[in-house]
Formats: sequence, structure tokens, C-alpha cells
Amino acid sequence: MAEVVIVRDAAAGGALVADEIVRLVRADPEVVLGLATGSTPLPVYEALRPRLAGVDVSRVRGFALDEYVGLDPSHPESYRSVIAREVVEPLGLDPARIRVPDGTLAGIEHAGEDYEAAIRDSGGVALQILGIGTDGHIGFNEPGSSFASLTRVKTLTEQTREDNARFFDSIDDVPRHCITQGLGTILRAHHLVLLAFGEGKAEAVAGAVEGPLTASLPGSAIQLHPHATVIVDEAAASRL
Ligand code: GLP
Repeated sequence: MAEVVIVRDAAAGGALVADEIVRLVRADPEVVLGLATGSTPLPVYEALRPRLAGVDVSRVRGFALDEYVGLDPSHPESYRSVIAREVVEPLGLDPARIRVPDGTLAGIEHAGEDYEAAIRDSGGVALQILGIGTDGHIGFNEPGSSFASLTRVKTLTEQTREDNARFFDSIDDVPRHCITQGLGTILRAHHLVLLAFGEGKAEAVAGAVEGPLTASLPGSAIQLHPHATVIVDEAAASRL
């Protein structure tokens, strides 16, 4: 059963996670962090900035959860660009130590295997930040994803494309495929920290925390993890 922490707002949730990440970096300067995109983790990265001032982050390593397939890596909404803009640059991390799955068509054939090998060789993710989609996806593991799945290419659901259309000029510009760490990959991280804020996430949070273990709600996989923390505001906790 995941531990649920109800916080006042997203900023308070971000601060809580940032404190834990700083503790990990101080304990191990080569710590491996599991990074996430989407709007939900932004308060974590914002809270980290002042907290990491003066801390040696030059050897911190990181793996992003997912990437769009077929979007040029230089596109501002590719997750490679987002991770660079929101995490690597503001926090002064070494870009060579932060990986994002390769969603380019040239690299896609081996991208899943390569990513799994890189995570394994790193010794594993110490803390994995997670958001959750309104359809219950974590990473880009859409409903129907196997709990044992590894990094692979998936098709995005229409709901996810609609949810993410706000980042693009029109829904037609939202990619149809992605490459994502699998639920099995995510479950190997030592500590999972899932954040969710706002009423729109209440149903997905309830399913993930208290619903049946089901591939229909991929976030329910966190119930299989011995150390999962769910950080929510009152609105996101309202169906628990
Ligand atoms: C995106 C990402 C997920 C993220 C989710 C929620 O599609 N691939 O990793 O958790 O959707 O996004 P947001 O935090 O913006 O609500």
C-alpha cells in the first residue's frame, strides 16, 4: 500500500520531494534520479534550484521516463528539450549524464534495449518522480500496458493526445507514438514518488492507490512497489 501524503498545494509537495532529492544527492553525489515531464513535477524542479545551490551536482545522473516518437529532438516540446530546459539547465546538471529515450526514427529499433541496459548499468534509479495521466497512465504506459513491460514504443491514446495538445499548435501536431519506460522498468526504482494535484486527477489517483491492480489503470502498478509515496493536494485526494 502506497503511503499517501496530503499537502496544502503543489509548491508544498514540490518542496517535500526536493528535500528528499537533496538528501540523496548529499549522500551519493552520483545518485541516479528518475525524471519526469508534464506540468506536475515542475514545482519539484523549482524547489530544487535554491536547495541545490552550493551542492555538487556535477556527477548526478538521470533517466527520463519517456519521449515522443518522430518529433525532432530540437522541437521545443520533445522531452529531450523539456528536460534540458526545465531540469538540466536550471539545476546545472551535466547534460552528458542525463538520458532521455531516443525517439528518433533512426534510433528507434534499439532504443528500448539500449535504455534498459543503460539504466541497469547505472545501478538503478534511487528515486523515480512520477506524474499520472487522467487515464491513469504513468510515463506513457497507457491503459493495457503489462505490469512487466520494459522500455518500448507505444501508441498514445486519443485522451492523452488531447490532454497534451495544449503544448502544441493543434492536436494534429501531437505525435501518435512514444517510447516509454515500462511499468516493469519503473517498478525497479528504489523509491517511487507519484505527485498529483487538482480535481482532474482525483479519479486516476483513487484508482492507482485503492483500485484493483489492473492494466486498465497502469498507475495501480505502484501498489506492487514496497516503497511508493503518493503526494497529493486535497482536490486530487478527494476520491480516496
Ligand atoms: C504526460 C507524461 C507523463 C505525465 C502525464 C501527466 O503525458 N508523459 O509522464 O505524468 O502526462 O501530465 P501533467 O503532469 O502535465 O498533468
